[in-house]
Amino acid sequence: MDFRTKDGIPFGGELKTSAYCLDPNVIFLNHGSYGAVPKDVQAEQTRLRDDLERYPDKWFRITNSQLWRNSLQTICSFLGAEVENTVFVENTTTGVDSVVKSIQFQPGDAILISNVTYNAMKNMGTFSTPKDVTVIYVELQHPIEDKEYILEKYREVLENHTNIRAAIIDHITSPTSIVLPVEELVKMLKEFGVLSIIDGAHAPGQIDLSIADIGADFYAGNLHKWLFTPRGCAILWIHPKHQTVIRPGITSHFHGHKLHYDFCVRGTRDNTPYHTVGAALGYLERLGGLGTVHNYTERLLDEGCAYLCKVLGTETYPLPPSLRAPSMRLLRIPHIEGYSRDPQGAGSLETELSTNYNIQTCMTFINGFTWIRLSVHVYNTIADFHKLGEALNNIMTSGKADRVRDEEYGCPLLHWDLTPLTSIGNEKTVEKLS
Ligand SMILES: Cc1ncc(COP(=O)(O)O)c(C=O)c1O
Repeated sequence: MDFRTKDGIPFGGELKTSAYCLDPNVIFLNHGSYGAVPKDVQAEQTRLRDDLERYPDKWFRITNSQLWRNSLQTICSFLGAEVENTVFVENTTTGVDSVVKSIQFQPGDAILISNVTYNAMKNMGTFSTPKDVTVIYVELQHPIEDKEYILEKYREVLENHTNIRAAIIDHITSPTSIVLPVEELVKMLKEFGVLSIIDGAHAPGQIDLSIADIGADFYAGNLHKWLFTPRGCAILWIHPKHQTVIRPGITSHFHGHKLHYDFCVRGTRDNTPYHTVGAALGYLERLGGLGTVHNYTERLLDEGCAYLCKVLGTETYPLPPSLRAPSMRLLRIPHIEGYSRDPQGAGSLETELSTNYNIQTCMTFINGFTWIRLSVHVYNTIADFHKLGEALNNIMTSGKADRVRDEEYGCPLLHWDLTPLTSIGNEKTVEKLS
C-alpha cells in the first residue's frame, strides 16, 4: 500500500512521528475514542490562543463571534448542513443532552433508546428527562445481519408504544461500530410522530455526511474524533422548527436570545477548538481527502484482521459491508485462562496490553466474550497488528489459553450483555423489549 500525503510523506510510521505528538513507543489502535490532533492543527490553536491573550476584551467581544460564524460556514459546507441551523458544542454528549433537556415532555411520554446506544445517552433517557417519562428500549440481537432486521425491530416497538415522544439513535454505534440506517429510521420515526435525535459522535470524518438530507429533528456529531480538531469540538444541527425551544444546558448571559448567541456565549470559555476547523479540514485535504483515508484504513483493517484471525484462531464480527464503518472493526478474543468472562476480564486485558506491551486498544464484553474494537488512522501500519498479535499470543501462552474450551462455545454472537438501567439507581420504569 503506497499512500502518501500531498507533501510526499508515506502514511504509517513516518507520518505518525512527523505529523503527530503520539508517543512513538506506543501502538495506538483506538483512534475512535479520542482521535489524534495533528501538529499543524495544534499550532493553529496556539496561534489563536496567543491572539486571544494579546487582547482578551477584543477577542471575547468581537473576534470570537466572527470566528464562530466563519468556522461554522467552513464545517457546514463540509458536512452538508446549514449555518443557521447549526451551532458548536463541546462534544456530542453536551449536544444530545441539551436537546433532551429542552424537549417539553408530557406526563406519560416515553423516550426510545436501544441496547447499542452509547451509555451517556442511555443515562440521559433516565436522568435528563422528567421523572414521569418512561425509557423504552429496542433490543437488537447479535449478529445483526442486515438493515432490514434493525428496521423491523424499531417498527415493532413503535407500533406497540404510541407514547414515544423522542428517540436517540446512534449513527455509528460505539463498541460494535455498526452504521445504523439513520435515513430510514428517521423516516419511520416521522411516520409515528416521534422526534429523532441522532448521535453522530463517530460520523463526521468517518463517513460521507449530508446532515440536512438525513431529515432528522436533531443531529449531533464530534469533530474531535475523526476530523482532527482539538477535543471539545462538536456540532449540533437543529431543525428550524425546534430552534425556539432548544437551549444549551447552561443558562447564560444570552439565554433566550437567538440560537447562535445563546450557544456561542455560554459564559467565558475557550472556543479555540471550534476555530481550528479550517486548519483541520486543510490537514484532511493534504492527506488526499476522506476517500483516500478510508481506502487506507479499510485495506489496513482487512489485512490486519485477516492476520489476527489466523494467528489467534478467531473471527471478526460478521457485519455486512453496508453496515460497516470504514475505520473500525470488531474482533473476538479467544478465552484466556486467568481472565474472567465478564467486563472486568475485558478491562483487565486492555490494561495488560497498555501497561505491559504499550498497545492501546478498546475492549468490550458482549455476552460471554471479550471483543477488541480496532480503530485505525493514517498513522497505523500492518506492523501494529503484528505487534498486537504477538502480544496477545504471548498473553495467551503465559495465561495458558484455553482454546479448546473456547471453540466449544461456537458462535458467541447471541446478544449483548446489558447492564439493566435499574441497577444504576434509576427510579423510573424501564421497559426492556426483546
Ligand atoms: C456513539 C457515541 N456517542 C457519544 C459518544 C460521546 O462522545 P463525547 O465524549 O465526545 O461526547 C461516544 C464516544 O465515544 C460514542 O461512541
